[in-house]
Amino acid sequence: MAHIIVVGNEKGGAGKSTVSMHVATTLGRMGYKVAGLDLDLRQRSLGRYLENRLAFIAATDLNLPMVALHELPEINPDTVQPGENIYDLRLSEAISELEPEYDFILIDCPGSHTRLSQVAHSLADTLITPLNDSFVDFDLLAHTDEHGEKIKGPSVYSEMVWNARQLRAQAGLPPIDWIVIRNRVGTQRMVNKEKMERAIKMLSKRIGFRVAPGFSERVIFRELFPRGLTLLDLKDVGVKQLNISNIAARQELRDMMKALELPDVDIDI
Ligand SMILES: Nc1ncnc2c1ncn2[C@@H]1O[C@H](COP(=O)(O)OP(=O)(O)O)[C@@H](O)[C@H]1O
Ligand SMILES: [Mg+2]
Repeated sequence: MAHIIVVGNEKGGAGKSTVSMHVATTLGRMGYKVAGLDLDLRQRSLGRYLENRLAFIAATDLNLPMVALHELPEINPDTVQPGENIYDLRLSEAISELEPEYDFILIDCPGSHTRLSQVAHSLADTLITPLNDSFVDFDLLAHTDEHGEKIKGPSVYSEMVWNARQLRAQAGLPPIDWIVIRNRVGTQRMVNKEKMERAIKMLSKRIGFRVAPGFSERVIFRELFPRGLTLLDLKDVGVKQLNISNIAARQELRDMMKALELPDVDIDI
């Protein structure tokens, strides 16, 4: 049975698709069979990213690890029973087809509250939430006081995860391992950065997530998409000497992968 990794945050631009691509292809590189599902049916960034990778592999004949992109199956609306939701059916059918075939299923969620995303969260064995280093983004997890120092209470996204956790508990499924990773963190020392760090730490104890090291703000992430590449592919495509920023980014990826503590996975990349 596949381990299901969901990457979610209701905020757009948090880094979900970038993180999805990196986690999925890193597991692929380690020899695991990985399926990718993109629930952002409109933007399809993960889908586009993987299609770019396929095209690049075809054009160069390079042997890069691949992730199998799957679409949600179509369901005849006439067969949907009253009280059933067509999106629930499409997602559960996709999962039951993929589960016996793959080691991991990676689900990239849209940056908004949709039925599909909600259901996907309740299927997560591991939930990764990338978070930009900004209180605007933090506000979807929890409201703070005007100094960003006291937590007033959980907010919409945390409440959604809470509901997903309740659903799993009722169904007798193991709890979600929820990991928040900070993304696009500035490399300089900044007051906001330290405040965010404190706020996330406080919140993690209160609502039950782990905080893993994430990614600094780096141009390389924006440049890889058209070729469908990730940080770990650079050597394979003939980049002889990685610059300091790219070496640091690769290390951040390794540290993040380790911090996910995926079952029976020994991160050796
Ligand atoms: N660590 C990073 N440094 C620089 N740019 C980043 C980083 N992470 C993501 N980006 C860029 O930020 C934008 C949003 O990322 P994306 O993964 O599409 O977010 P989401 O899927 O949450 O909407 C993209 O242009 C992406 O290339
Ligand atoms: Mg996205």
